Amino acid sequence: MTNRIYLDNAASSPMDPEVFEEMKPFFLEHFGNPSSIHQNGRFLRNAIEQARRKISQILHVSPSEIYFTSGGTEADNLAITGVVKGYGITHIVSTSIEHHAVTHTVERLEREGIVTVTWLDVDSKGNIDLVQLRNVLSQNPRSLVTLMHANNEIGTLYDIKAIGEICKEFDALFHSDTVQSIGKEEIDLSQIHVHFINASAHKFYGPKGTGFIFVRKGIKIPALIEGGSQERNLRAGTENPASITGMAFALEKCYHNLEEKTRRMWDLKNYMMQRLQAEVPGVSFNGETERGKSICTVLNTVFPFGEEDAMLLFNLDLAGIAVSGGSACNSGANMGSHVLRGIGASKEALINSVRFSFGMENTREEIDYVVEKLKELAPTQIVR
Ligand SMILES: Cc1ncc(COP(=O)(O)O)c(C=O)c1O
Repeated sequence: MTNRIYLDNAASSPMDPEVFEEMKPFFLEHFGNPSSIHQNGRFLRNAIEQARRKISQILHVSPSEIYFTSGGTEADNLAITGVVKGYGITHIVSTSIEHHAVTHTVERLEREGIVTVTWLDVDSKGNIDLVQLRNVLSQNPRSLVTLMHANNEIGTLYDIKAIGEICKEFDALFHSDTVQSIGKEEIDLSQIHVHFINASAHKFYGPKGTGFIFVRKGIKIPALIEGGSQERNLRAGTENPASITGMAFALEKCYHNLEEKTRRMWDLKNYMMQRLQAEVPGVSFNGETERGKSICTVLNTVFPFGEEDAMLLFNLDLAGIAVSGGSACNSGANMGSHVLRGIGASKEALINSVRFSFGMENTREEIDYVVEKLKELAPTQIVR
């Protein structure tokens, strides 16, 4: 798999070799169960608590507000179902362009008649209207608001600080899925009125199958997974010390010289946008693309090609380039991406969108190669 160009970092980022080194001793040397009281157990317990401390410092919260989970999906489920059960919430505010870990959970609660849902309008770039949010909450105080920070498909960023202030005014509980922004955006939770955020290590150069949820002090929700008393009864099951340690180390690394890393990533995103605009006639982009309104890692591109993006993705893959299709259909019924449908994308955009997502390993030279390949493929695919 060497010499391939990987532009699918929003799906999963490559593991940082230093993170791997940090994790290694936990596989063979530091065995045992972190709940055991002997030395082996205590060593692991200590490693887990150190990781918790590291993460809490980055986010400006207390370690007791961080709980480890199996990843972003579990944490989304935990926050939403936990609030509904724990607080008897009967109204949820969200959008149709959240990750499926959120939309499917909310839809199920709605189907079961447990909650009613207000799906906020989203504009053609994925933005919400804060005036509408305020109106909805003024009529439904004490709702659960679940709105993501950075959209994983189109990169549009929501102003979670402003959303939090509105939630505070109407006593709403606020969950934000920060899976795509954590490690890429500065997130100071002492300044944001949010009750839950969540993260997934494999999106920031850590291991897959591990993540965490921040639960604001004083908030009490029931567990989703029952069993032992791990994670202070919020998440049963033996912890994974290797992954938890790796995750904390990976996050710490991301926030080291963040500004420099963000600048580099914006350079790649802007460079690719400029080259595509100049050299591929008719190209356009889904979602916001400017700094401040979008995340540096995601560029969702609509190509004026006749074929469905599956063909383009296949050809790019043959050329050694890994990207994701914006119109990924996972049911066989070609419905297109729920996010693109949610922003009212054109039929062309629904079938011809490709998501390029950048990581710290990518270079301008790689972008040059990808643009050249796209230009080579274009004549066979451009219909107008
Ligand atoms: C915004 C968002 N939320 C949740 C998830 C799910 O995270 P995980 O892969 O850890 O279950 C993802 C992963 O694609 C995501 O992008």
